[in-house]
Amino acid sequence: MLEKLDSLRAEFGLALGEVKTSAEVLNLKAHFIGKKGEISQILKGMRDASNEDRKVIGAKANSLKLDIEKALADKLQEIEMEAINAKLASQRVDLSLRDSVMDRGLDASGLHPVTLIQREIEDIFTSMGFAILDGPHIEDDYHNFEALNIPGDHPARDMQDTFWFEDMEHLLRTHTSSIQVRGMEVNEAPFKFVGPGKVFRNEAVDASHEMVFHQLEGMMVGEDISVANLIYFMKTLLSEVFKQDVEVRLRPGFFPFVEPGFELDINCLICGGKGCSVCKNSGWVELLPCGMVHPNVLKAGGVDTEKYNGFAFGLGLDRLVMMRYGIDDIRHIHSGDLRFVKQFKAF
Ligand code: PHE
Repeated sequence: MLEKLDSLRAEFGLALGEVKTSAEVLNLKAHFIGKKGEISQILKGMRDASNEDRKVIGAKANSLKLDIEKALADKLQEIEMEAINAKLASQRVDLSLRDSVMDRGLDASGLHPVTLIQREIEDIFTSMGFAILDGPHIEDDYHNFEALNIPGDHPARDMQDTFWFEDMEHLLRTHTSSIQVRGMEVNEAPFKFVGPGKVFRNEAVDASHEMVFHQLEGMMVGEDISVANLIYFMKTLLSEVFKQDVEVRLRPGFFPFVEPGFELDINCLICGGKGCSVCKNSGWVELLPCGMVHPNVLKAGGVDTEKYNGFAFGLGLDRLVMMRYGIDDIRHIHSGDLRFVKQFKAF
C-alpha cells in the first residue's frame, strides 16, 4: 500500500501538469481525494492491516492528501489569475493612443484659436447656467433685422453692410443676434442663453476688419433684470477670460434692439490704466456692446413684456483672440495658413 501511495503521488504530479481549467482541477480533486477517490480507497483497504502498518500508511496517506489539497488550491488560483489577466489584456484601453491623424503621420494643426476661445467662453456661460444655441448662417430679413427693431427703412441697416441674396429676402447673417430671436421663439421666459458663430459683412478688409468674423451674443430674460445683473455677468465673464479681476465701465451706445444701450469698456490690461497705445492713453479699452433688451424685440420674440425684461450683449471673438495672443492683423485668422494655426496646438 505504501508503494501504491508513492505511485499515486507520481500519478497526481503528472495529471496536475496537464490541467488547464478549474473544472479539470475539480475532477482531479474528486479522483484523488474525493470521498470515493483513490486515497479513500486505500484508507478503506487498511481495515485488514496491522496496527503498525495502519499508523505508517495512515500518516503517509494523510500527508499525500494534504499535499494534493495544497497543490490543487495553488493550481486553481493560478488558473483564476490567468483568466483575470487575459480578460484585463483583452479589455485594455490604451490611454496613450494618439489621435488618428497624428498616427497617420499627417501634420495635425490642433484647434483654431477662435474655436479655443469660443469653447472656453461657452464653458464659462454653461457654468453660469446659460444654454448654448446655434442658428443658420443664411438668414431671412425678419430674423436678422425686422424682429430686432430694425425695420426696412431704418438707418441702422447701414451700420451693417449686408451680403444679400438675389431675392433680397435672404442674407448672410450680419450678427449672431438672429440666434437670439430664434432662441426667444422657442423658449418660454425666463431663460438665458448665448449663441456663438460666424457672421458676415460686406466690409473693406484691412488689419482690423474682415468680411467673415465671429461673435458670441447672449441674453438673459427674467423678472426684474437690471443693468446691475448685466454688469455682474459681464464682469464675471471677462475676469474669467483674462484670468484676473477686470474693472468695467459703461458708456452710452446706440443699437436699435437695446434701450438703454451701452458700450462696455474694461481697464487696459496692457498698461494697467496708466495709458498706452492700445488704450490710446485713455486707460480703457472698448470691448463689448450691450444693453437692456428693447420691449419691441421681446414682443417679437413672444415674451410678455409686462412680466419680463432682460439684458443682451455681443462679444467679438476675433478681437478677444487678437488681444489674448497678441495678434496684430485680423486677416491671419481666416488665412488658412497652417503656420499660423499650428502655433496654437499646445493651448
Ligand atoms: N448685434 C450687435 C452687433 O453685431 C451687437 C450687440 C449685441 C449690441 C447685443 C448690443 C447688444 O453689432
